[in-house]
Amino acid sequence: DKGLAVFTSGGDSQGMNAAVRACVRMAIYLGCKVYFIREGYQGMVDGGDCIQEASWSSVSSIIHRGGTIIGSARCKDFRERAGRLKAANNLVQRGITNLVVIGGDGSLTGANLFRQEWSSLLDELEKNKSITPEQKNKYNVLHIVGLVGSIDNDFCGTDMTIGTDTALHRIIEAIDAIASTAYSHQRTFIMEVMGRHCGYLPVVAGVISEADYVFLPEYPPPQDWPDRLTLKLDQERSAGQRLNIVIVAEGASDREGNPITAEQVRKVIDERLKHDARITVLGHVQRGGNPSAFDRVLACRMGAEATLALMEATPESVPVVISLDGNQTVRVPLMECVERTQAVAKAMAERRWADAVKLRGRS
Ligand code: F6P
Repeated sequence: DKGLAVFTSGGDSQGMNAAVRACVRMAIYLGCKVYFIREGYQGMVDGGDCIQEASWSSVSSIIHRGGTIIGSARCKDFRERAGRLKAANNLVQRGITNLVVIGGDGSLTGANLFRQEWSSLLDELEKNKSITPEQKNKYNVLHIVGLVGSIDNDFCGTDMTIGTDTALHRIIEAIDAIASTAYSHQRTFIMEVMGRHCGYLPVVAGVISEADYVFLPEYPPPQDWPDRLTLKLDQERSAGQRLNIVIVAEGASDREGNPITAEQVRKVIDERLKHDARITVLGHVQRGGNPSAFDRVLACRMGAEATLALMEATPESVPVVISLDGNQTVRVPLMECVERTQAVAKAMAERRWADAVKLRGRS
């Protein structure tokens, strides 16, 4: 009688549906009652139709679909105790004490706080007679497991997050397409790519598209970057290259922390080199479309492992995140990963770039 629920939270990413499907099917296979929570934490607070029992067939034909069929939202109510109290009541009334949260570090931190607060929430619910003493005793421990869905690959503790590989494919398809028209007209293209505070997407895209220059959040260029950039582009053209590709991460900045935008880069190239320079902002195309084969497999493995981890959890076990480590799916203490991820963000905000890179480690 282990009630389990799965929800997606924060920004969507390709492969989330495959993860939802694997959680649901592994749970049914193991004999659990399994629920979807629609619209992330908001659905948990609102209850009603937002929390629905899932069946084997309810997750058919979603493995190939991008986004998340159960919706995702940012939720203010869950930040307040009153919202979390409602959420706890909604779960207890359905016998749900196991949660799989698929999201980024903010969503996983929220789940961990909820778990820590769980017994005091149940005390309050019993006091105000929303739940019975029997319910309080029966459902007194909340287990959570995290899966990281993010195209940015910005979470410490896993080699890859769900959605990154697909986003990379989207970027590369776009750069390949741009390159043929750039070649014809001897143009320079400046591609703005996502990744917020993490340069994984721009750096890998830069390497595999033979870009001439990449602006990354973690490696701000020296203040004389316009000289360096134009020298490099000029050298490439003099060597016979008919096009140039420059990649600008959306979170790029200089060493003082001033943003470096695609438009600034275009202007420098236009004024100094008189190149016909154009900007393409890839935007949410990177987060859309069908998941790649890699992301489908990754999400299936992680989803199944998340359900297994919940079924094996004891009241003493610490919450884990399912990670990829050297092509193995492993369980890693959730808060260790979240703390490291937040330390990276702090180091970046304080412009301690080298520390940020070191802290991030392999991922
Ligand atoms: O974290 C994923 C991400 O796609 C980032 O790369 C990007 O900066 C951000 O989300 C955009 O968020 P939103 O869709 O809320 O504008």
